Amino acid sequence: MLHLDHSCLYFRSCLAATLGVLLSLTPATCRDIPGSRPNMLLLMADDLGIGDVGCYGNSTIRTPNIDRLAEDGVMLTQHISAASVCTPSRAAFLTGRYPVRSGWSFFITNHVPWFLTTAAQRKWHLGLNCESSWDHCHHPLRHGFGHFYGMPFSMMGDCARWELSEKRVALERELSLCLHAVASAALMLAAGKLTRLIRLPWTPVIWSAVAAILLFTATRLLGTLIVHADCFLMRDHSIMEQPMRLPRTTSLLLHEVASFLKRNKQRPFLLLVSFLHVHTPLVTTEHFLGKSLHGLYGDNVEEMDWMVGQILDTLDKEGLTNNTLVYFTSDNGGSLESQHGNHQYGGWNGIYKGGKGMGGWEGGIRVPGIFRWPGVLPAGRVVAEPTSLMDVFPTVVQLGGGQVPQDRVIDGWDLLPLLLGTAQHSDHEFLLHYCETALHAARWHQRDRGRVWKVHYTTPEFQPAGASACYGRGVCPCFGEEVTHHHPPLLFDLSRDPSESHVLTPATEPLFYEVVGRVQQAVEAQQRALRPAPLQLDTPHNTWKPWLQPCCGPFPLCWCHGEDD
Ligand SMILES: *[C@@H]1O[C@H](CO)[C@@H](O)[C@H](O)[C@H]1NC(C)=O
Ligand SMILES: *[C@@H]1O[C@H](CO)[C@@H](O)[C@H](O)[C@H]1NC(C)=O
Repeated sequence: MLHLDHSCLYFRSCLAATLGVLLSLTPATCRDIPGSRPNMLLLMADDLGIGDVGCYGNSTIRTPNIDRLAEDGVMLTQHISAASVCTPSRAAFLTGRYPVRSGWSFFITNHVPWFLTTAAQRKWHLGLNCESSWDHCHHPLRHGFGHFYGMPFSMMGDCARWELSEKRVALERELSLCLHAVASAALMLAAGKLTRLIRLPWTPVIWSAVAAILLFTATRLLGTLIVHADCFLMRDHSIMEQPMRLPRTTSLLLHEVASFLKRNKQRPFLLLVSFLHVHTPLVTTEHFLGKSLHGLYGDNVEEMDWMVGQILDTLDKEGLTNNTLVYFTSDNGGSLESQHGNHQYGGWNGIYKGGKGMGGWEGGIRVPGIFRWPGVLPAGRVVAEPTSLMDVFPTVVQLGGGQVPQDRVIDGWDLLPLLLGTAQHSDHEFLLHYCETALHAARWHQRDRGRVWKVHYTTPEFQPAGASACYGRGVCPCFGEEVTHHHPPLLFDLSRDPSESHVLTPATEPLFYEVVGRVQQAVEAQQRALRPAPLQLDTPHNTWKPWLQPCCGPFPLCWCHGEDD
């Protein structure tokens, strides 16, 4: 029987995807694992770098709770996200499939959905609404989750008044172009009329002036109202607070987790806690401000670790610890471009090169990965085999007694044998590293030689020249003029050079052609079998549509405060 209650607490989603398939599984017999059918608690940080965590080698930041998880559980040191930005990475996490298979990647600049009103064609894709502002066709509850609390959109600068809002700036820029055109026309008409250079009735002059004033107001209002309107808090299908009052989100989330655990402790559950931390604008409560050695960013990391501790304490208090599989990860690596002057606003990826948004470089995709299940998983075990965030889906499905969908390719593998230590090697011989729809790199775990090779076909060009990130653009491009295609590809031996600092050449590496050829074969085989899916993030789907805007009042008065303190 499939007993899982796929309840979910989904606090900050870049997307809601196909956990729904879990619900539609045919019942399977329970697997013979000690203490089988555990609860599952999946914790996902946002943009946390692997170098930001104590147990992954950071000696100056305090993450005692995450470290304790690793001490009591299994720590993965080559845990790879399917993409270096949140939306495709999260889509892959929830589906167990490369994001290109479900259309959750796109080219040009739409790394992530920019508007919550993003419409997608199929029911398992991200976004919220399809045809009206209330159909919620992409709501997490439509994808197998039994309960939802949180923010269905992403945290960007938009939600904080003190931050630069990426969307507001874009929207205002577009409207200002129209405004300038109309205002100039109005001025010219008025000037022509007043100086009697043109013979015109007053009506067009007045109308063009009215249009300019309306546009001006719209520019101001839309920029503020609409953009903030996407930052709202939902409980299931209801908007509780719009816009969200950011400082309270931490306590609201913890309170919700505690009450969920209390309500559901008698039956198996799956709970996904997707933190707003440690994404900008780094909302941190006063208690943690100024406490770390690493400025606001470090304070935010330490606060998130404290939240992890609070959640683990609640598990203890409710007597759930021994019967709960806890997983901790981050959706992608730390963002190197997030800086204010000399201040660090993004994560630290330790010895790994690159970061968020940089295609195949290790820093953007190698993330923390920790599993704890007391009494079942060996405490303190460290696994260096290549694993993927896509493995979590088949792992929880198996543990829940289900079967992964048989009608599609699942790219992840059940991790349990590796975690238990009954298997020595992971099932991933090859892992492909996409940047949106472009394949930038691939890794080959050559088991008989104990080597992990990494081949880069394309890399972003850093800006300004000589920098180690795309400071000029804010995020590196995946295509076009600002990437370099490598012929022959760049080859690294990650097993000896995890920092990707020594490029191997046919002269320095006798196996060069053999390795590059073998990886090429695997890439071609996968790409031949790939059936392209309709794109979910192309421009028509990633454009603001007023009729899809979720709004708790009559549009555009999207303003309400229903959540108690
Ligand atoms: C620890 O993390 C902080 C915050 O990202 C970073 O600034 C610092 O360099 C890291 N320290 C070490 C020793 O890795
Ligand atoms: C939980 O599991 C640990 C490790 O197996 C064991 O030492 C402990 O006694 C268990 N606690 C309870 C309450 O069963």
